[in-house]
Amino acid sequence: MKGVTTDVISEVRARANIKDVISETVVLKRAGNYHKGLCPFHKEKTPSFTVNEDKGIFKCFGCAEGGDVFAFVQKIKGINFYEAVRDLAAKYGVALVETEQERQEHDRRSAIFMLYEQTTVFYQKLLKESIEGEEARKYLEKRGITAETIEKFRLGYAPNTWDSLLNYLTANGKASSATLAEAGLVRQKQGGTSYFDLFRNRLMIPICDDRGRVIAFGGRTLGDDQVKYLNSPETPIYHKGLHLFGMHLAKDQIREKDSVIVVEGYFDAITPHQFGFGNTVATLGTALTEQQAKLLVRYTESKRVYLSFDADDAGARAVQRGVETLSQIAEGIGIELRVIRVPGGKDPDECLRQDESGPTIFAGAIENAPLMIDYQIEEVLDKSALSSHTGRIEAAGNVVPIISQLKMAVNRMEYIRQLAGRINIREEELLSDVNLYRREHGLDKEERAAMRAASFQREGNYQGGQGFQRKGGNFKGGGGGNFKGGGGFKGKKSYDRDRDHNDYEEPRPERPRFGSGLDNRRAAPAGHTEAEKQLLALYLISRDDHKRVLSAMESERLLSPEHQKIKETIEGIGSAFQSIEDLRCQLQDRLAPDPRLSAYLTEIILKADALQKQDLPVDVVVMNCRARILEERMSNLIQTLRNGLVNAQDDGEEREIQTTIITLTRLAVELRSSKSLEELVLLKNKIEPMEAKYIQRPSMESKV
Ligand code: CTP
Ligand code: MN
Repeated sequence: MKGVTTDVISEVRARANIKDVISETVVLKRAGNYHKGLCPFHKEKTPSFTVNEDKGIFKCFGCAEGGDVFAFVQKIKGINFYEAVRDLAAKYGVALVETEQERQEHDRRSAIFMLYEQTTVFYQKLLKESIEGEEARKYLEKRGITAETIEKFRLGYAPNTWDSLLNYLTANGKASSATLAEAGLVRQKQGGTSYFDLFRNRLMIPICDDRGRVIAFGGRTLGDDQVKYLNSPETPIYHKGLHLFGMHLAKDQIREKDSVIVVEGYFDAITPHQFGFGNTVATLGTALTEQQAKLLVRYTESKRVYLSFDADDAGARAVQRGVETLSQIAEGIGIELRVIRVPGGKDPDECLRQDESGPTIFAGAIENAPLMIDYQIEEVLDKSALSSHTGRIEAAGNVVPIISQLKMAVNRMEYIRQLAGRINIREEELLSDVNLYRREHGLDKEERAAMRAASFQREGNYQGGQGFQRKGGNFKGGGGGNFKGGGGFKGKKSYDRDRDHNDYEEPRPERPRFGSGLDNRRAAPAGHTEAEKQLLALYLISRDDHKRVLSAMESERLLSPEHQKIKETIEGIGSAFQSIEDLRCQLQDRLAPDPRLSAYLTEIILKADALQKQDLPVDVVVMNCRARILEERMSNLIQTLRNGLVNAQDDGEEREIQTTIITLTRLAVELRSSKSLEELVLLKNKIEPMEAKYIQRPSMESKV
């Protein structure tokens, strides 16, 4: 277990609050017992991602991702379980026993962090004090960068030599050349064994993580190098697309102003900071990634994001891609996305420094920044010849994807009305195009996922219940059987069904498995999987139930291997727990190393939460579950026999199999009408010898 013991896992779980951990990536809002936000694991605009702080679990009703705090960290960071425990342990001050391998990986990263710190100091010193730094100092002066800004951004100078940094770090930092190469600070000569500095004669701009640790550099040429900016390669501590330049300096101002300005270039962030626009960060010329978009909104609560991007087409398009990401995140949580249009096609740096009026002009551009959607629509309309028929069709086609992004139907309608007028087409046509687009792009899907999440919160996820009724249950029968209640959702159900079906849909009534025409007096059976889930949930509701299920299910083997494993783990804990909550935590701890089991357990915890409100009779659930399992076993057996029939060696064997199938089919009818545990046990005893004979599966050797 690589030194990660159950004790450590348990301690970390106790300290690492899942809501706090998730809040670092997802903006969460309270919704009843839950917190809700936009799922970080799939694209959505309406929140269907829920966090249950008390139970220590998360669950997305859109993409079905779920688990505990470790599962979340694993998924979000793309690391394994042990790394996730480590990560959280370090953060919450839980000491780990480390293995050699773990220690090495950790040390490697720390070493690189340290090298970047030393390098930053080295370059800073050269810029401030060295003779060769003169040109760089002049350059900054020419660009109007003050000493204070140089200090704040820790700007530096990389001298025009091949080995200054190499020599400095190997001598003073005692680092090996290979480590420096891994850190992306030096390079190995092609075909040779010697190394050379990556950055030469460049103004050095440190890129930091949001804690302010230097993780990479951008180096601007001071000479006539073709490459204007040379950037550090990806390393164990630097992954492009995860960070935003200047974020560590802008955080406080972003919170204070409750808005953030996003620009493209290094100096387009540096100069605004100098002029008092301290809430500025830069994407460094590439499209915004989803992680960056999330980082961006983390400090803005739910307010304004201003985008300022280059007027040139390629740049605009590149950012556009990121903008869509941001638009989607923004829509879901009510972020106000606006576009800064700097007059004269200047970038923010040039705008601010043009003359004394620069800052006023820039402030004005912020003040008058149009909403992203209005900006996009104007762009489209500007480009179309609305006087011609084809021009109008083109314009309509181009506005449809833009309007379709709007989450609120009333909002969409408002734009449709306006635009139909301006483009001079019929409102209904535009509307039907928008609806078609939304359907085709799955944009309406999220609404449904959100509704599922909402209905889950309203009434618990116990919506199937086949086999026994919920107390005062009003959801059985009821005509079309729309169990969801909550109104407003009726009629959508029918097409909702077959697609994106997940466990939180009511289980579909299954076709009778034993052929048609069989008497089916019992309500349509929930699958055995569902029955097993309910059964396992009973262990987690009260001590009383736990005790009863424990003894009733002692010798029963569940069919789903994951469920069986969970059952065995529960039995392994036995009665050695202080409270149901303690039992739940112990279970979570033991199963956490296996993300699959952890996900299954999450389902069961959610189920327990829903069942708890319903006060179901334990015996009925146990009985139902055992019946479902037996039914499944019989079904499997019949299937095996049917296969056997085809391959029968002789008439004798064929007849024997046939007889057995007929017997089993009768037993299946009996099972359906069985009413007591005794009857069930009797049936089971009849079936087991058949299983023993025809199915070679060790999993069937259970006894009653
Ligand atoms: N960029 C880069 N590598 C390049 C060119 C650009 O990484 N070869 C990134 C830099 O982060 C740069 C941003 O893209 O700041 C925007 O590029 P550009 O508009 O070309 O440069 P400016 O930021 O305006 O650069 P400067 O003002 O220093 O001339
Ligand atoms: Mn510029």
